[in-house]
Amino acid sequence: MAKVTNKYPVWHPFSQMFGVESIPTVVKAEGVWLHTEDGKKLYDAISSWWVNLHGHSNPKIAEAVYKQMLNLEHVIFAGFTHQPAIELCERLDKYLPKRDWKYFFSDNGSTAVEVALKMAIQYMRQGDLKRKVNVVALDGSYHGDTFGAMSAATRSVFTDPWDDLFFDVTIIPPPSPGNELACFNQLKEVADESTILIYEPLVLGAAGMVMYSPEAMEEMLSIVHHAGGMLIADEVMTGFGRTGQWFASNATKILPDLMCLSKGLTGGALPMALTICKQELYDSFLHPEFEKGFLHGHSFTGNPVGCAAALASLDLMEDPETWRQIEAMNSFFMAQKAVLEQHEMVKDVRVCGGIIALDIEEENKGYIHPLRNKMYDAFLEKGVLIRPLGNVVYLLPPYTSSKEELSLAMDAIKEVLNELMEVVS
Ligand SMILES: Cc1ncc(COP(=O)(O)O)c(C=O)c1O
Repeated sequence: MAKVTNKYPVWHPFSQMFGVESIPTVVKAEGVWLHTEDGKKLYDAISSWWVNLHGHSNPKIAEAVYKQMLNLEHVIFAGFTHQPAIELCERLDKYLPKRDWKYFFSDNGSTAVEVALKMAIQYMRQGDLKRKVNVVALDGSYHGDTFGAMSAATRSVFTDPWDDLFFDVTIIPPPSPGNELACFNQLKEVADESTILIYEPLVLGAAGMVMYSPEAMEEMLSIVHHAGGMLIADEVMTGFGRTGQWFASNATKILPDLMCLSKGLTGGALPMALTICKQELYDSFLHPEFEKGFLHGHSFTGNPVGCAAALASLDLMEDPETWRQIEAMNSFFMAQKAVLEQHEMVKDVRVCGGIIALDIEEENKGYIHPLRNKMYDAFLEKGVLIRPLGNVVYLLPPYTSSKEELSLAMDAIKEVLNELMEVVS
């Protein structure tokens, strides 16, 4: 093939840069709106990759960040600590499922997962470095783009180039409607005290917003728990109110042994993550020998500015108005579900908390889907940022979205569905 290149200097994530000479430049973001250089305004209906909770450039978060920046912008987190980190962990404790937790900071969702896997595996191997572990993951799951996170999830075109380099993982179906028994039976066959189940609780995001009930989750978790295995809840997307409660893990009696948080942790303003583990796991790392400790860290671990943003976001999460907004969004989506279900192009509509997803009737599934790019462009034309996951269209908006803004996105979806129908018929 002839050598091709382009002049644009930046390499963007999850993008084929072939033929790209320029990309829409966002010059300002305010509330739920993105403003581009060419004077256009876009409603951010996916919270900029599921991170934004309280609208962009939120003044309360901005002010907290500014103040923190002037006082202590960063300090090495090995051998030193600071108040924002301590306060954040103490305050989060109130909203997590009730158990004694310890908090380990890192930088993003992938590293939170990486840390959780490394902790769980080392915990199992504290007495025997050769002990077998069996990581189990849900079909379609996504846990990030580092090697451990990619290993512990479904393999796809996104992971093909490195396929032979991953560790072995057992993949079972998620317990979504119709798949419950297959999930439980396959899990029962493999679950034992060497099992580490990693799962996205209630909603598998990148799989196409695949949802399952708290009852199905309870059953799935109890199989591993009673077999003596460990549970890692990846709440990178589901945390901080997305499913209508603080954390999706609050929905079951069986608790995870580890939890991964990121995205909404700072209200979506700065990159930061937490891996939270049960006290017993932490205690097993306490030993006079250095090498029995958890020898993992990142330069920006526990960054105070990230913590300040997270504390300001927690203040906003604690405001009853935020929960009223989440509830109002859920009611709006439930009403729209009934409407969308009548559309000829729509196969299934799902709602959980502040997320609505619909499957477009199509044989061809998967992220790389001919319809996907067409729909994405059509939504942008209509002033809404919606990034379909293959044939799955979803909204996951900032909580501060008004009914008018939500309606704008919903109208765009209906218009695009009608346009698709015209092409098909
Ligand atoms: C459930 C889940 N886990 C992990 C990740 C990875 O997070 P990050 O992109 O911050 O590395 C994502 C990202 O979408 C996610 O949805």
